[in-house]
Amino acid sequence: MNLENFHVAVIGAGPAGLYGAQELAKTGARVALFNRDIKPGGLAEYGIYPDKHKMKEGLRAQFEKILALPNIEYLGNVTIGNHGALSLRELFDFGFDAVLVTVGAQGTKWLDLPGEQLRGVYHAKDLVYYYNQLPPFSTGQFEIGKNIIIIGVGNVMMDMAHWLVRDLQVDTVTALARRGPAEVKFDKKEFETVGANLDLVALDAEIERCAPFMRAVGEEPDAARQQILAGLPRALPPVSDTRLRFYFLASPLKLCGDARGHVAALQIENNKLVSANGAIKAKSLGTFHEIPCDTVIFAIGDSIDPQLGLPIASGEFVKSPAPRFPINHVSYEAFDPQTEQPLDRIFIAGWARQASDGLVGIARKDGINAAHAIRAYLETRAAPRGIKLAELQEKIQQRGAVIVAKAALRRLADAERAVARARQLPEYKFATNPEMLAAMDLVAK
Ligand SMILES: Cc1cc2nc3c(=O)[nH]c(=O)nc-3n(C[C@H](O)[C@H](O)[C@H](O)COP(=O)(O)OP(=O)(O)OC[C@H]3O[C@@H](n4cnc5c(N)ncnc54)[C@H](O)[C@@H]3O)c2cc1C
Ligand SMILES: NC(=O)c1ccc[n+]([C@@H]2O[C@H](COP(=O)([O-])OP(=O)(O)OC[C@H]3O[C@@H](n4cnc5c(N)ncnc54)[C@H](OP(=O)(O)O)[C@@H]3O)[C@@H](O)[C@H]2O)c1
Repeated sequence: MNLENFHVAVIGAGPAGLYGAQELAKTGARVALFNRDIKPGGLAEYGIYPDKHKMKEGLRAQFEKILALPNIEYLGNVTIGNHGALSLRELFDFGFDAVLVTVGAQGTKWLDLPGEQLRGVYHAKDLVYYYNQLPPFSTGQFEIGKNIIIIGVGNVMMDMAHWLVRDLQVDTVTALARRGPAEVKFDKKEFETVGANLDLVALDAEIERCAPFMRAVGEEPDAARQQILAGLPRALPPVSDTRLRFYFLASPLKLCGDARGHVAALQIENNKLVSANGAIKAKSLGTFHEIPCDTVIFAIGDSIDPQLGLPIASGEFVKSPAPRFPINHVSYEAFDPQTEQPLDRIFIAGWARQASDGLVGIARKDGINAAHAIRAYLETRAAPRGIKLAELQEKIQQRGAVIVAKAALRRLADAERAVARARQLPEYKFATNPEMLAAMDLVAK
């Protein structure tokens, strides 16, 4: 069935939204792709480490091809939701037949510990957005000291360590894990960027300290050591004297401040490991310790944005427990737990469906699967509702948003390439929205 008279709104032009839009476009449906940021790409543009030029350029080229499809309209610089140019509910007033929500996980996950509001305490995502130059984070003020604790031992921790070790060249970086050496979640490839700065003596002492707890749950300390060090043979040559350390079996309890209201130490409680239902968990030993520091970075994952206007339960947008159009047993359909009814026509994919879940390839697959669910839904509809795209654009503009369309994006890419060439840089990004809008001739220079 050709769905060419049906219109789908895709909210969010990260990998899930872009690949989802491409899949919908293949059915003949017309797609309006709304994006908060001026540029498409989401975390592929503003999350992936800036020096991964090849990967980022490859993805940008794919995204450009998707946006070139004639039945995809791009509406960049337009936020949808309670805090946006249009609410989710209002979108339907303009005749969309379905909406795919792919806004990622824009919230930051915290632990509600005393002292989290002290100066020098940050969430990794805000810093990632800062060094990748996403407005307004690009011009934010972040005071990074010399002795940094990063909470969490996933790949985002490794990206943070990469920045602190190679770019900022701080004195010490301590990665704090609530579980043990066998439960680290970073990849060996990411470890290569900082492996040369690892304090190996400290790591061995730490693994020896953890060994009795590991053996108690059937873990082999040497195997965990090998897993952590797998990237060491290919570690990049060091560019700083930063010492990278791990502190395992430690849950953060409290951030202690100095007289200036700046973080000065992190209090932790020591844990042991317990095995429950096949999973290894941390359990408090009831002993405490204080680690001096001048900066604490939470790298424990992200959370969804409650301002979008979809029902939330247990920190997630609620999905229908009995989906009408499941794909591989996964529900992509939004659900209202109060009425216990599906939110007809609203689908969710990518990090919006499951926060902080996996790499670009996973988000891509999720967007494509959600597009298949939407196709199945549209095929049950007798006729399209009738789109009012011109009125929609007028309403957005009346509310003060400058819509960035495809042609303008091409002008922006040309302008940034020209600056990069002139300054002999591998790439250049304007740091603010006014600069980008001016470069696209959408506002006066
Ligand atoms: C620090 C970091 C580094 C990473 N590095 C890698 C890597 O090296 N390799 C890899 O494969 N994966 C990496 N990932 C994972 C990868 O970036 C994600 O899997 C992927 O980007 C998730 O895609 P998404 O489309 O679901 O969400 P996002 O990429 O977050 O995209 C969401 C989009 O929605 C838009 N949006 C948000 N709110 C609204 C709104 N209200 N209205 C309209 N638009 C909105 C945003 O502007 C954004 O464009 C990294 C992730 C992080 C956090
Ligand atoms: N270069 C890359 O390829 C790259 C870069 C960045 C991100 N990514 C991807 O993006 C996704 C998200 O990465 P991520 O690092 O944010 O998530 P992650 O891999 O899930 O790691 C999160 C870390 O935070 C810890 N944590 C979570 N909740 C905690 C709590 N309440 N208290 C203490 N510690 C807590 C976790 O410990 P537990 O294990 O004990 O829960 C884990 O060590 C991953 O799929 C990752 O691979 C990829």
